[in-house]
Amino acid sequence: MVKLAPSILSADFARLEGSAREALAAGSDWLHVDVMDGHFVPNITIGPVVVESLRRLRDETGTFLDVHLMIEEPDRYLEDFARAGADGLTVHVEACRHLHRTVQAIHSLGLKAGVSLNPATPVSSLEEILCDVDLVLVMSVNPGFGGQSYIPGSTSKIERIRTLLERSGSPAWLEVDGGIKPSNAAEAVSAGATVLVAGSAVFRGDVRANVKALRASAEIRPPARRG
Ligand code: DX5
Ligand code: ZN
Repeated sequence: MVKLAPSILSADFARLEGSAREALAAGSDWLHVDVMDGHFVPNITIGPVVVESLRRLRDETGTFLDVHLMIEEPDRYLEDFARAGADGLTVHVEACRHLHRTVQAIHSLGLKAGVSLNPATPVSSLEEILCDVDLVLVMSVNPGFGGQSYIPGSTSKIERIRTLLERSGSPAWLEVDGGIKPSNAAEAVSAGATVLVAGSAVFRGDVRANVKALRASAEIRPPARRG
């Protein structure tokens, strides 16, 4: 079942919990937290304290705090984000000198481990780590900012990673992040994506209507929510 993971990067930070709650109540599955350090990407966003602020909402709704680390040397912060309440940590292959060790470290903290590829990073860089991860994140924009346009070549990249996952029998989620709109969500899902990140398409304007439109366009069924 395809999941919708709103990126809080585009949420209303003056009322973050309320904005995130709105997206979940409208039928989103996860909360995607875009962490940026101003070095790995040309923007600085949020850190562990913001993940901590969403913990109560996570506990109440059973959502998944899907933390995307667009930072250099992420090993320095894995424990901080785990302590803050992250459920999954995704690191960039381009930022990890010892990626296998980083994935092991995330698992040793009891979290799901994801690896992400920037648009120019080849699928082949996943080959040796694919069977060890719980999630692969395809960047369909150059990371750093919300509101950018989907890079068309991403669709073929999603298909090739889908093929690799099927060939290896991996149950890993295949997540796509960047420029996802009702107009291209079905394309990403047909290519093999199982989690869609959407920031501006969810939080700009009417959140309920936006989530409904995204779910309908990608035929995402509403999550079974506890509580
Ligand atoms: C990296 C970020 C963005 C963002 C998605 O830049 O990861 O991709 O969350 O934002 P939208 O959906 O507005 O492109
Ligand atoms: Zn992201």
